[in-house]
Amino acid sequence: MAGSSVSSGGRPPLFATEKPARVAAYAYRLFAGTVLAGLLLVWLYRATHLPPRSSGARWWAWIGLSAAELWFGFYWVLTLSVRWSPVYRRAFPDRLTRRYKEEELPGVDIFVCTADPTLEPPMLVISTVLSVMAYGYPPEKLNIYLSDDAGSVTTLYALYEASEFAKHWIPFCKKYKVEPRSPAAYFARADSPPDTCDPKEWFALKEMHKDLTDRVNSVVDSGKIPEAPECKVRGFTQWNEDTTYRDHPSIVQILIDGNQRKTADIDGNALPTLVYMAREKRLHEHHHFKAGSLNALIRVSSVISNSPIIMNVDCDMYSNNSGSIRDALCFFLDEEQGQDIAFVQYPQNFENVVHDDIYGNPINTVNELDHPCLDGWGGMCYYGTGCFHSREALCGRIYSQDYNKDWRMVRKTEEVDELERLAKSLATCTHEHNTLWGIEKGVRYGCPLEDVITGLQIQCRGWKSVYYNPARKGFLGMAPTSLGQILVQHKRWTEGFLQISLSKYSPFLLGHRKIKLGLQMGYSVCGFWALNSFPTLYYVTIPSLCFLNGMSLFPEMTSPWFLPFAYIVVAAYSCSLVESLQCGDTAVEWWNAQRMWLFRRISSYLLAAIDTIRRMMGISESGFALTAKVTDSEASERYKKGVMEFGSFSVMFVIIATVALLNLACMVFGVARVLLYEGTTGLGALFLQVVLCVLVVVINFPVYEALFLRKDSGRLPASVGLVSFCVVLPLCILPTNMRYEVDQM
Ligand SMILES: *[C@@H]1O[C@H](CO)[C@@H](O)[C@H](O)[C@H]1NC(C)=O
Repeated sequence: MAGSSVSSGGRPPLFATEKPARVAAYAYRLFAGTVLAGLLLVWLYRATHLPPRSSGARWWAWIGLSAAELWFGFYWVLTLSVRWSPVYRRAFPDRLTRRYKEEELPGVDIFVCTADPTLEPPMLVISTVLSVMAYGYPPEKLNIYLSDDAGSVTTLYALYEASEFAKHWIPFCKKYKVEPRSPAAYFARADSPPDTCDPKEWFALKEMHKDLTDRVNSVVDSGKIPEAPECKVRGFTQWNEDTTYRDHPSIVQILIDGNQRKTADIDGNALPTLVYMAREKRLHEHHHFKAGSLNALIRVSSVISNSPIIMNVDCDMYSNNSGSIRDALCFFLDEEQGQDIAFVQYPQNFENVVHDDIYGNPINTVNELDHPCLDGWGGMCYYGTGCFHSREALCGRIYSQDYNKDWRMVRKTEEVDELERLAKSLATCTHEHNTLWGIEKGVRYGCPLEDVITGLQIQCRGWKSVYYNPARKGFLGMAPTSLGQILVQHKRWTEGFLQISLSKYSPFLLGHRKIKLGLQMGYSVCGFWALNSFPTLYYVTIPSLCFLNGMSLFPEMTSPWFLPFAYIVVAAYSCSLVESLQCGDTAVEWWNAQRMWLFRRISSYLLAAIDTIRRMMGISESGFALTAKVTDSEASERYKKGVMEFGSFSVMFVIIATVALLNLACMVFGVARVLLYEGTTGLGALFLQVVLCVLVVVINFPVYEALFLRKDSGRLPASVGLVSFCVVLPLCILPTNMRYEVDQM
């Protein structure tokens, strides 16, 4: 690594931006050049060896394959942008500590969003809240806001319980330097006190946490708030019989007011401010989902704490590092470059991923390579969680060089009742009417993946962003652990990205002349995910079918044209494997990730593309998606053993099973036919098709297992097998009237 450090007036900078050694960059560019040359040769081969029209099926297959290869080539060029020039950031929090007194540090508002008490149980939510309340940061500068879009009184109750527990938990964390500071995660990991802890205190706290869990869960189960007198005053009276989650006035409850020093922890120290908010919901008013609640939080917090730094995190992603705020501040407070920075995005990491994960969940290449490259183009994307923002930039300020941030905090009033009343008026449905909220201010409305678009808009206004990926991860969330959940999630994202790419929010249009071309391309890598579906589906079906019928589509092994094909395949896959290993994946995880790529491309991406086309043509959406079910304990056991979870009937599974069966049939009958009629020389003529077919079969092994061998409830249902079989059978026996041809080259 060659460090590049700028010093400002003799003071060392608060963060450094490092680039990998030049040699590595040049080597990669050279490699990319050879692959590009190979691609051109492949295209040339396709153009010069086009079979005559009269060959019918073969002509069509050839045209399709050429189109697919053109697309893959184009897409590969796009992905070059996320390999070109990575940068790695390093923060120096100890310099920050030396340079700023505690009372000079800016206030930080932390937003936690939850939307559904069944999918996101209150215990999960308050574990996240407690983990961010316990950040190693002056409590009077720390303000935590929970937005509850379900408007559920049990969530407020859980938060009230958390505020009581925090009085013990926060001093305990600070005294013993506990990590991580989510009590649930901490006690799940440690079953005996560490040497540094007083065992009595440790066990008492563990017991207290268990009581808290039991109390909250029993209230969640019964839906009844206890009648205890101290619960009466805490704002629960704002609910009545008419309150439903879709129809209620705005509710704001300040559970702890850090400014007022009335509430202190058991050691007498101040506590961070803690606020519950359920914005107003009315049946006839559009609520704009998470974007709407974030914007309401921005306004509500502006009258209560108005901190210049805002951090937002999803309720299932707890803080795994109590120093993250200070790390992030190194970027904002750097004298030289801090003024340019609008947001600092942390990567998404998962707590529950097992070794050699069957779904290829560890997204190390994305976190360690793709994102540093986006950062290198000056524009890491914002993905809605684990991100620190400058309030000004988020609220629509246009970047200007000589603008100086004001870090002081101004409180409108000291009266809590008055504050709550003011805050409620800002969380009403009508407040945003005829304003720029959701257009220029705050998080964008009216487009899918509003987070990404919001980040892009901020960059288009001239701001820079930072991707910060420390070795010890700042936030840990939960990865989905069933194939259905993953495919559905990806369908949603892919569909959103494609819609963006085809709309006026496309990075090429929105970012035209505002951000670098490389960054526009980088954004488009995800933007065009969906369009990979058709070429991929084509590539894993047609060449195999043609092989079954003895129809050659690739150069023979002895032909010089064979070389570019072989080179591209070998080079691309070895490069991807090496990258994965370098980024910390295992070889098995890489292999599993390849399988997931195939599955996603032929199912999620395909349905996303089809649904987008249908919507553009004004036809209603297919509603193909299957509903994600909560993973049961048997399923999570299977996940730990590396067994893929299917379970229910879904169109996506049918596509996957059909492709798997088709290739199996083509391989078995195709090889048999060639050996029977031509001997091994016949295989040489069709070599690349054989390889392709065999690879598809090998990578689909878990599918055959789920179809034929497994007996557990996560297997592929017989109905899926039946439908796939009915599709594969005619495909395999009908086209034998196609004339058998040997490629004349
Ligand atoms: C989370 O934090 C703990 C320390 O509390 C650390 O040991 C662990 O490596 C962190 N997890 C990740 C994924 O970085």
